[in-house]
Amino acid sequence: MSVQFSTPLMDAKNFPPAVVKAQPALSFTDSSLWHKTAQLDDVTTFSRARYALVAAALCLKRVGQNNTVLIPAYHCPALVEPFIYAGYDIKFYSQLPDLSTNIADFSRLLTPEVSHVVAVRYFGFSQNTDALMLAASAGGKIVIEDNAHSLTHFWRTCIHKPSAVSACVSSIPKTLGTLDGGVLYLPGQKINMPTAVSVATELRALMSGSMPVKASAKLSTELRYFRPDMQKTDCLRISRWLLLHSNYAAISRQRRANYQYLAQLLQQSNAGQPLYPTLAEYDDPYVLPFVLNDIKWFARLREKGIQVLRWEEIAESGCGVSADLKNLLVQLPCHQGLNQVQLNKIAAVLI
Ligand SMILES: Cc1ncc(COP(=O)(O)O)c(C=O)c1O
Repeated sequence: MSVQFSTPLMDAKNFPPAVVKAQPALSFTDSSLWHKTAQLDDVTTFSRARYALVAAALCLKRVGQNNTVLIPAYHCPALVEPFIYAGYDIKFYSQLPDLSTNIADFSRLLTPEVSHVVAVRYFGFSQNTDALMLAASAGGKIVIEDNAHSLTHFWRTCIHKPSAVSACVSSIPKTLGTLDGGVLYLPGQKINMPTAVSVATELRALMSGSMPVKASAKLSTELRYFRPDMQKTDCLRISRWLLLHSNYAAISRQRRANYQYLAQLLQQSNAGQPLYPTLAEYDDPYVLPFVLNDIKWFARLREKGIQVLRWEEIAESGCGVSADLKNLLVQLPCHQGLNQVQLNKIAAVLI
């Protein structure tokens, strides 16, 4: 099946610059030499999670056989394009309104034709991802766990090594505010180590606050967010250092506190409701997913300089929930760099 993404609903250029950012700024506050990530076996870094995904897709591809991957219908293109590039046939499975999956319906899709399954822990919440991965693995499928939204969940998988999971990825900037970085856990497979950029390039990136785009880096006509020539590029040394030396417990504590504070304020909102009003023990929020009653609130937030994200480019799959959430689910910032004044500012728009 060829994948058709919907066109973006709005352009960030039409709104004022963000004053409350979606991701934290680069900071060393929650890191130190004394913090050391214990588990490094089978872990490789890349420039973004999408390149970690493509490395997993290529390594785990079955030679001489059909490769069909089941991907959740609610997604961003950066999750789907690596599999298009890697030459997989792609099918989608539906989500329920709380982004969990009906396991009985999902299991019916595990036909012999399907070889791989991608499972996403959306926004640092687990939904019923563990049950889904167990069902897929019991059905003989190769499971790739997408923890792009939480390095804490990523490290948990590296440490516990669940037998149902063949690969796991995460996106470093989403947790740590770095300029780049993706990470892959791929046990038992040999992987070519990506190459670091030159020190001069790294310094230029840090001084300008953005990653340089190589002159040769062309997007293909089919892929909007995937640059084939970035596959072999490692993340910046500073992103790797922060990956290995951050105090994830402190970051998670602050994110949870911000989430709870904002969710409490939003209880009185007439604009919609938090998808998850409360946090469970292992939830590690990346953002506060908020379901609007009316699409107009998205523009109101952006007009006030609040950098809410929304997945607007979703592949046609027949899943009504993702078609609705494409318009109505906004990702409200709650990262560790925000203070109560900024959280109040977000809530004030929606109350
Ligand atoms: C669920 C999910 N997977 C993968 C990605 C890709 O992450 P990155 O931007 O680091 O390539 C993203 C974000 O774009 C995402 O939201």
